Amino acid sequence: MNTTPIGKPLPRVDGRLKVTGAATYAAEFQRPRLAYGVLIQSAIANGRVVKIDITAAKSAPGVVGILTRENAPGFKPYPEDLTKKGAPGENRMPLQDDEIHYAGQHLGVVVAETFEQATYAASLVRVMYQAQPPIVDLPDQRAASTATTPEKFIGREDLQVKRGDVDGALAGAAHKIDATYSTPIENHNPIETYSSTAEWEATDRLLVHECTRGIKQLQRLLAACFGLPAENIRIICPFIGGAFGSKGFQWSQTLLAAAAARLVQRPVKLTFSRPQMFDSAGQRARTEQHFTVGTDNNGKLVGLRHATTTHSSPVSEYTEPCGNMSRMLYSSPNVDVTHRLVKLNLTSPCPMRAPGECPGVFALECAMDEIAPESGIDPVEFRLRNYADRDEHQNKPWSMKNLRECYERGAKKFAWSKRNPKPASMRGPDGSQIGFGMATVIYPAAQQKAGATASLNKDGTVIVRSATHEIGAGTYTAMSQLAADTLGVPVEKVRFELGDSAFPVAPNNGGSWLTASVGPAVIGVCGDLKKKVLDQFGHWPNEQELASLSEPIQTEFTSEPNKNEREKFSFFSYGAVFVEVHVDVFGQVRVKRATGVYDAGRMINPKLARSQIMGGLLFAISTALFEATIPDEATGRVVNANLAEYHVAVHADTPPEFDIDFIDKPDPHMPDLGARGIGEIGITGAPAAVANAIFHATGKRVRDLPITPDKLI
Ligand code: MOS
Repeated sequence: MNTTPIGKPLPRVDGRLKVTGAATYAAEFQRPRLAYGVLIQSAIANGRVVKIDITAAKSAPGVVGILTRENAPGFKPYPEDLTKKGAPGENRMPLQDDEIHYAGQHLGVVVAETFEQATYAASLVRVMYQAQPPIVDLPDQRAASTATTPEKFIGREDLQVKRGDVDGALAGAAHKIDATYSTPIENHNPIETYSSTAEWEATDRLLVHECTRGIKQLQRLLAACFGLPAENIRIICPFIGGAFGSKGFQWSQTLLAAAAARLVQRPVKLTFSRPQMFDSAGQRARTEQHFTVGTDNNGKLVGLRHATTTHSSPVSEYTEPCGNMSRMLYSSPNVDVTHRLVKLNLTSPCPMRAPGECPGVFALECAMDEIAPESGIDPVEFRLRNYADRDEHQNKPWSMKNLRECYERGAKKFAWSKRNPKPASMRGPDGSQIGFGMATVIYPAAQQKAGATASLNKDGTVIVRSATHEIGAGTYTAMSQLAADTLGVPVEKVRFELGDSAFPVAPNNGGSWLTASVGPAVIGVCGDLKKKVLDQFGHWPNEQELASLSEPIQTEFTSEPNKNEREKFSFFSYGAVFVEVHVDVFGQVRVKRATGVYDAGRMINPKLARSQIMGGLLFAISTALFEATIPDEATGRVVNANLAEYHVAVHADTPPEFDIDFIDKPDPHMPDLGARGIGEIGITGAPAAVANAIFHATGKRVRDLPITPDKLI
């Protein structure tokens, strides 16, 4: 009998806690003598602080202390590896100088007995500035003097890549397109805003409750900045109410909460308001992407140029890596990928779900949709003709690639053959214009080092621990399944614990690598535990034998990526996504159907996997149609820093039909079960499928996201 929980659609083991409100999120932890902090922020986007007048604020009701540069500690620098070239997050320590680089920059914290008192007192703080006109527009000529061509994305991916002779190839091309695509600034909008509660348990021991998907990184960061050993810092984070790329980098709020707590000698809770989510902790930068693509008479790509311009803040060099997938998604002898970075007086950018891939593959897949009909070829057929049988950028074979099957299965399920190739040719009974669009999907399949401990207790439960995270994707459930499978015990006997910096090392929760990284540690530690138990008892112990245990049986395990495999092969997940849109006379777009077929290795839990992809697709629809952060050109402040004017897709925007399917074949070169990541692939490619469907429906090619009704009428 097959009793393994792997591949079964198990409901979430923490589902009940979440729906009953029993799951405790960062802002919900209560501490004795807790005080509340509210940020003092810069109203200007460029210049310097002359004076911060706290006279009125100090005597407001309930105020217990105000942290500014005057009384701030001299933070030591962030750990070097977090500020290396192109790393996300800021490289400037807060409250150490008077410079202002963007609106909303943190200038201090007002601490009071209640959140309301702190909010009121913060409104009484008067900041005098010496202001300069800010530069906030990407094409602004004043920004050009700050332009650089960064070498690497987070120190690892090449951002300037040339293969062959693109100019020569384009000059001789039979068909050619030249087009610029642009994507706006976008902000992460998880339901849970940032929250840090800092508490000095002794003068040199700090306890922090925070929503972070980098528990170990935050521990190292605080240790470095306060000059303490890492073991003196403890971070607790059992649940994260969504991240979407946020909550993993060095922003000032944790340092400020800790400094404020030291100042007032009480635990301090610092929780962001929704508007602060737009200026205080990262965003996706705006991008301008220029494509020149040429094909021969058979629709085969001969040359592809992808030139991106994007921006960072004056205190960061993070670059949205739009061109990375253009290096190798299709076979082309001539490729030229460049990234140009300018500095703007806008909050520092950072990864947002599928950094680079989301805007970059949007542009690439629209460009493919534009060149395919130029070459007289159906978009799916065009992609098959330009299929890359190996990674031409790294010059390596793929670890496993079933993308052909994704196209074929997806086209069949969606009934792509019913598409009339002529744009603006299909109409619904209500008169709306109907369009079918598709796109290729790709996302890297990475793996990181991770550790875990396991212990078998007297009561027969097995506790497995790792300092990993639950951002809503289902870590508790998937890891419990892997542990139960390895041990051969029911899932109910396993308790997986995470979210504590005292547990063994786990990587930041990002890059879609959690399952492929923490999974092997869980499988390894449970394998060792099983062996140890069997060595002792000769079989899995019964109740009486368990009761005889004087102490739990314990094991520890660390897994590392297999270097040889990583060097030999190129690791990606793939997919093909198809959408049907209806566009009415007012230019309103409804996505009616979405079909996605994904090749992401073995599926550990199809129910969680479907949820991940569904959320990703909805986010992609949101990206295509709604999301845009709008800075005011005169002041550099965000004019729509709220959920009324920054639109995100909601239930009413969800297509009535989601058809999500997985190839579900284990990748032989990924560890253990052959699972690859599914966290970010859902948002990738699908925005292009929507844009391509809108073109097919209306004959209008909108190259600038989001595709709002004004662009269609
Ligand atoms: Mo992703 S924004 O690299 O977690």
